[in-house]
Amino acid sequence: MGIDLEKVDRIIEKYGNDATLCLELLQEINGTFRYLPREALVRVAEKNRTPLSQLYAMATFYKSFNLTPRGEHEVCVCMGTACHVRGAPRILERAEEILGIRAGETSADGKYTLQTVNCLGACALGPLVTVDGQYHGKLNTARVEKLLRRSPDEDAQEHN
Ligand code: FES
Repeated sequence: MGIDLEKVDRIIEKYGNDATLCLELLQEINGTFRYLPREALVRVAEKNRTPLSQLYAMATFYKSFNLTPRGEHEVCVCMGTACHVRGAPRILERAEEILGIRAGETSADGKYTLQTVNCLGACALGPLVTVDGQYHGKLNTARVEKLLRRSPDEDAQEHN
């Protein structure tokens, strides 16, 4: 499915052809589409006469950019040592079953991206999962099921 190039054009117009604003321009595209679609990078390269290779170099250098589509909601399972010994592998397995994807993938409906990290910096709470940055600690498979089977939007409301 193609992307809305008009949105890309509006962003390009906003930043103009100023090389010093190229990073901001890419950040806004990444924020708009939740990743940097190739079509968008090609469009920026054409309109701003910037080599595509240079844009890809920036996109791969900065970790905040994604080159593959991301889901609306990001589920992150900590697989660090402290979480691992407290059952993180079972949590990940259950999350993969519930979401129907493997770690590193995005669901076909574009709702979820599942990933793993090595430590979320709250080891005492392990096993730990974040959903859109919200921490959910001391999980077991039943709790992860409850967490992922309900909408993350309900979850966000509960935390507000
Ligand atoms: S190992 Fe999971 S939060 Fe540190």
